[in-house]
Amino acid sequence: MNAALQGTEICVFDAYGTLYDFNSAVARHRDAIGPKADALSEMWRTKQVQYTWLRNSMSTYSPFWQVTGEALDHCLAACGITDKAVREKLMNAYLALDCFPEVPAMLERLKKAGKRLAILSNGNPGMLDPMVKASGLAGYFEAVISVDDAKIFKVDPKTYELVKKRTGVTSDKVCFLSSNCWDAHGAAQFGFNVLWVNRGGLPEDNLPGKIVAQIKDLSLLPAHLGVS
Ligand code: LAC
Repeated sequence: MNAALQGTEICVFDAYGTLYDFNSAVARHRDAIGPKADALSEMWRTKQVQYTWLRNSMSTYSPFWQVTGEALDHCLAACGITDKAVREKLMNAYLALDCFPEVPAMLERLKKAGKRLAILSNGNPGMLDPMVKASGLAGYFEAVISVDDAKIFKVDPKTYELVKKRTGVTSDKVCFLSSNCWDAHGAAQFGFNVLWVNRGGLPEDNLPGKIVAQIKDLSLLPAHLGVS
């Protein structure tokens, strides 16, 4: 049990990279993409996230689905992949990404222990809802919160404010989980108690916001909350 998480009322999860594996889109269509598949996957995610930060700076919000497609178009061009069918396959796969293997059992344990559960994601409802439904996990979450309600991306504080608006829970009683270190810092700076899901064993970013602790995957979350 982590003392800082003692008052946790709700666990709020980031979606892409935290509950759901964005690499599973490219992995599913590796043969159609060819030898640049892994490079494409990494570049796609990097560009997608960069575009959200840049759009925040330019005050030019567009739904994450559009941003994801625009990032993919850039990366396909950079990799010299011109087959339009590849684009369609990858975008469709994004609507049904695999969850990480430990996620269903972890959610079941928390739910049984009476914890409230929600998602807060950059994804817009049109892409988040089908993915959560396809994974069979929809029943665990009382809310799938999209930054689309605030028309701005993480790490703008208005995105984290949506949690209180939707669930009524104050930030000191929120345990926020993200595998994206920049999102973890943004949420901690806002006032959530944050566990960084450091799946890649990376060094921590030097950004404002103090993270409570890091865990290597979500199977370790119940122990931090004192749930057996
Ligand atoms: C999300 C991205 C940041 O789901 O992973 O919000």
